[in-house]
Amino acid sequence: TWTPDSFVESTVAQLKKKVGSDKVILGLSGGVDSSVAAMLLHKAIGKNLHCIFVNNGLLRKNEFHDVLQQYEGMGLNVKGVDASDRFLSALAGKSDPEEKRKTIGRVFIEVFDDEAHMVEDAKWLAQGTIYPDVIESVSATGGPSATIKSHHNVGGLPDFMKLKVVEPLRMLFKDEVRRVGASMDMNPTLLGRHPFPGPGLAIRILGDITQEKVRILQEVDAIFINGLRDWGLYDQVWQAGAMLLPVDSVGVMGDERTYEKCVALRAVESTDGMTADWVNLPYNFLQKVSNDIINKVKGVNRVVYDISSKPPATIEWE
Ligand code: XMP
Repeated sequence: TWTPDSFVESTVAQLKKKVGSDKVILGLSGGVDSSVAAMLLHKAIGKNLHCIFVNNGLLRKNEFHDVLQQYEGMGLNVKGVDASDRFLSALAGKSDPEEKRKTIGRVFIEVFDDEAHMVEDAKWLAQGTIYPDVIESVSATGGPSATIKSHHNVGGLPDFMKLKVVEPLRMLFKDEVRRVGASMDMNPTLLGRHPFPGPGLAIRILGDITQEKVRILQEVDAIFINGLRDWGLYDQVWQAGAMLLPVDSVGVMGDERTYEKCVALRAVESTDGMTADWVNLPYNFLQKVSNDIINKVKGVNRVVYDISSKPPATIEWE
């Protein structure tokens, strides 16, 4: 019978045999799958696993710093690459959702390829692909691996894509991945994280992206997500986040009419992201979060809660 412990034992043994003393490159996204895949390879080959964690400037508030520290704490051989400026300048003036996704995918590949070249004589590319990714062929939720798959059709493969691929989680479902991570004593907070899209906050800022909009949305999102944690609601929600709408709505300040941003909060229950229901969050929680956002985040004067289910409304707004 399958147990997480026996899976770890047999997979580590297989990885040792397969990879030997070769070097392996792996892109970490901060998500559960790539992190668990990294830990298995770390157990098998230690420093020969070269992890790359790219900051695209569209992550949650403090995420790059905090997650990088966690990875280092796990003993991983990881390099954090802050490419925020490269992504944000490539995105400047772009407001079409698919164009934004393509731009992020392209820049990710460029940055990752540059970094991969710095690992001399690497033989393998490891990916955190899980079974649902294999059957759908395009990951619904994945980070780097999903980005790579949907964008490798432009003019010749980058060098890192010519490496041999190793995917230790290929046969597992998400809950099994979490159990495997737990059996390796990985941080429960890391294992319990909500899915987060590869293009990050770019698809939650409707329309064009600026540094200032990213900053505003990071603040709003942090208040919402920390609130969910503080109120013990985080684990009852499959995915949550905030959208920055391209709407200036009217407010009052003294005798003046002001025009400031409106944000939408979204929290859904789901098993795989294919269908989803909005979560019936307590009114007093929404009240607290809304007040905090409006009082603390300059430039936002209105908060709404998205009560649409999928289908037809997708989880993301873009
Ligand atoms: P939708 O909005 O299609 O989202 O209901 C379903 C799930 O997929 C995630 N999502 C993405 N993940 N790249 C990703 O890696 C993307 O371009 C992308 N778009 C949506 C979304 O966060 C949800 O978990």
